[in-house]
Parts: sequence; structure tokens; C-alpha cells
Amino acid sequence: MSDNRPIGVFDSGIGGITVLKALRAALPHEDLVYLGDTARLPYGTKSPETVTAYATQATKHLMEHGVKMIVIACNTASAVAIGPLTEALKPLPVIGVIEPGAKAGVGATRSGHIGVIATEATVKGGAYARAIHALKPDAFVSQAPCGLFVTLAEEGWVSGDVAEAAAKRYLAPLFRGKNAPDTLVLGCTHFPVLARTIKKVVGKDVKLVDSAATTAKAVQAALADRGLGAKRRGKGKTRFLATDSTERFARVGGIFFGEIIRAKDVELVDIRPS
Ligand code: DGL
Repeated sequence: MSDNRPIGVFDSGIGGITVLKALRAALPHEDLVYLGDTARLPYGTKSPETVTAYATQATKHLMEHGVKMIVIACNTASAVAIGPLTEALKPLPVIGVIEPGAKAGVGATRSGHIGVIATEATVKGGAYARAIHALKPDAFVSQAPCGLFVTLAEEGWVSGDVAEAAAKRYLAPLFRGKNAPDTLVLGCTHFPVLARTIKKVVGKDVKLVDSAATTAKAVQAALADRGLGAKRRGKGKTRFLATDSTERFARVGGIFFGEIIRAKDVELVDIRPS
């Protein structure tokens, strides 16, 4: 069996491009449609109801592109909306990034003390702690919200004085003392671009993990299980949609993607209900 329809991927902005990049590498023959809800970023400071409404509108829009699967490339939306989205879109597979991120954290820790940094909404909902404990009941989880990292990433300020000062302010309390975490889960898809700055603060012995590679694996497995993999010889296409600021999306998104994204290749879409 095969299925050449695209895979729909969405985030509040360009952060999810860190997941898109891993998907592109793992699934070269698949067509991918990425939607960044740049008009309404950030999601991480909003209520679960608002994030669920936005995520529902994003997936509805992706459905119009005839997608065969949805990847929620946003921890905040995964944390609060994966249940309602999975239910509403059945039997379409919906893959979030929390379980893959938890799996990466559990796989990396030796001491069993796992740090999680994420948006305020993700931390508040406790989805990471639940996902980690489901895999490793004796794990000790320390969490810290780091909302400003989203803004820094969107601004492209991923290193230098400002990024380092923010990293110190957020992370120093978590890594003070002897019993600090040995693993840090970057529980927001915007954070991997700040990895070098974060590492400077937490030290080289702390393992940084994120959900990009493990999510790509989960998507690969879901495609294989359901016989939904594309059958084509050439490379799959990557299509970009944004709800605002397409030029900015292209400019900063290209850094996340590791490839030039041309502004004229980013389509402006309105996903608000009419
Ligand atoms: N990139 C998103 C996440 O993984 C959210 C960033 C935001 O919009 O606050 O949580």
C-alpha cells in the first residue's frame, strides 16, 4: 500500500521547522505542508481553550490540503490539544511531540533526574511529567517555563549577550547544587536553535534532547504501520504556509530549516473561522 498525499505539520510559528527538518531528513520522498500560525504566536502564554481553538483551526486548514496525517510540531498545542484533535480527526493519525520528547529524555538520563524546559502553558499542564512517568515511574522531573526563548528564537537572537543572560536567569536555579538534572528536555520546538547557548549555562555534561528526531521516528513508524508511506522516486516537496509576516517567516525560518526559504514561496493564509 502507498499514499502520496502530503503530511500536514503545524506550529505557532517557525519553531516547528526544527521538527520539519527532521521529518525532511527521515522521509525524503514525502510531500510536507508546514503551517506557522505566525499571526497568533505565542501559544505558550495562552489558555488551553484558546490554544485548542487555534490548533483546531490550523488542522482544519491543513485538511483542505488533503493531508494524510497531522504532526503537531508544537509542544504547547500537543500538551493541551492532542486529545480533542485525535478525536475530531479520526481515523486520520495525529502525532504530537510530547511523547517523543519524553522518550528522548528517558533514553538519555542516567541519574533519573530529568529537567524539562518549555512554555508556561506546557509546564502548567504537566503533560511532560505525565509522559515521562508513564515511561519511567521513578524518574524525578524538574520543570522551568522559559517563554522568552520563543521570542529570542523568532527574532533569530540565538546566541550572544541577551540570549545568554536569559538562559542564565531561567536555568541557573535548576542547575544549582549537586542533585541537578543530568538531562534537559527542550520541550518547545523553538528551543533547539538555542542549544549552544543553553549548553554554555548548564555545562557540557548535561545531555540536551529534543523531540525532533524521535518525532520523525514516530511518524515513520505510523506511516509504515498504516501503509501510508509515499511511493515516488524523486524527492518530496516542502510547502510553507503562514498566517502573517511571510517575509520574516522565510528569513528566520531558513535558519531553522538549514536551507534558504524564499519569501515568495511562503503562502499567506487566513485560517480564522469565517
Ligand atoms: N513552539 C511551540 C512549542 O513547542 C510554542 C511556542 C509558543 O508559541 O509559545 O511549545
